[in-house]
Amino acid sequence: MNMAADLGFSGAGVRSGTCLVLDRLTRSYPDGTVALRGLSLSVPAGRIVSLLGPSGSGKTTTLKMIAGFDKPDSGSITLAGRDISRTPPHMRDIGMVFQNYALFPHMSVFDNVAFPLRMRHRARRDIETVVQEALALVELQGVAARLPRQLSGGQQQRVALARAIVFRPQLLLMDEPLGALDRQLRKSVQSELKRLQRQLDLTVVYVTHDQEEAMFLSDEIAIVQNGQIVQCGAPAALYDAPESVFVAGFLGESNFLGGTLAEAGAGRAIVTLPDGRQMRGRSAAPMSAGRAVSVLIRPEKLQVHVASRAPGREVNVLAGRIDLVNFLGGAVEYEVDLDGPRLTARVHLRASAATFAVGDPVVLHVEPQDCLVFPTP
Ligand SMILES: Nc1ncnc2c1ncn2[C@@H]1O[C@H](COP(=O)(O)OP(=O)(O)OP(=O)(O)O)[C@@H](O)[C@H]1O
Ligand SMILES: [Mg+2]
Repeated sequence: MNMAADLGFSGAGVRSGTCLVLDRLTRSYPDGTVALRGLSLSVPAGRIVSLLGPSGSGKTTTLKMIAGFDKPDSGSITLAGRDISRTPPHMRDIGMVFQNYALFPHMSVFDNVAFPLRMRHRARRDIETVVQEALALVELQGVAARLPRQLSGGQQQRVALARAIVFRPQLLLMDEPLGALDRQLRKSVQSELKRLQRQLDLTVVYVTHDQEEAMFLSDEIAIVQNGQIVQCGAPAALYDAPESVFVAGFLGESNFLGGTLAEAGAGRAIVTLPDGRQMRGRSAAPMSAGRAVSVLIRPEKLQVHVASRAPGREVNVLAGRIDLVNFLGGAVEYEVDLDGPRLTARVHLRASAATFAVGDPVVLHVEPQDCLVFPTP
């Protein structure tokens, strides 16, 4: 039996088009705090879009606006083509799972999940079927009669998820829903959420400050900084082509080398490091020679060679000494002291890979296309 079809979620097949549009939302609090400064975002139907950003950047405020718990000072919110900026929360057709959006403690699992249907005056016999189907989707059929406190943390979050999707909302909002779970449980609920999202063709706006979680779950990641979205795109696109030092530093691990731009043109850049060494890279933005720049190098792009057996390249070769060795399981991380700057290199452990110890002299090499040059903010 196909549960999704019974619930009527997947009957229309994969939806296309835009589900949600946020247009230049602003919000200031009476104490002068500006939470949103013209935030715009477009969420395609049937996709997971994550808001990723530091604490206080405006992620929760954005979700509250979408849900209708707070109102923007200006800007508009459109859901499935309809302006909902002034629609009360319960009329918005949006499901929610929040970290602290607790289950009703005195109600059974069944009654918790049935709650949104009762609010919508659904017929009693429909409720029975639809709740059982929703519980089956999150693999909790067996515990319908229990109280929330008789469940594990992960099970409680799955009940919250079932409650959020049981009335087939247009949109699902999730604010740090897995924040309270331990790492292993979080991984398994993440996989389950991803499966469910595909199966039911859900449109989800997901808030997290865990970059790994954002990369794992999202079709698109929107980086929030200071009440604005500074870049939005597929995880791999953001990782490979961040448009600012902030985005680069926020998504994935980064090394930055400071220097001065010696030459630039046609997307290429030559950077002089403080000790006179030169690096070749790609420019992330148009810049003129002489300006202060930062060179981004991802740890896995650095090759580590035995100093005496370094390949005969002249470009982007940096001599140094191993300062720290961090064993990560399938990979090892070397922190290399370049006589001033330090770089972290991550090397996958294969049979052929040379291994190094603290104090070993080494030579690092990185391809110019893997050095992204930014104007230093
Ligand atoms: N009721 C309020 N009164 C005044 N300032 C507020 C209020 N609610 C939020 N803020 C401020 O608005 C800004 C954005 O807060 P928001 O809760 O959206 O951040 P966030 O990105 O969700 O952060 P976190 O990752 O810590 O949850 C912060 O500076 C916060 O202090
Ligand atoms: Mg928040």
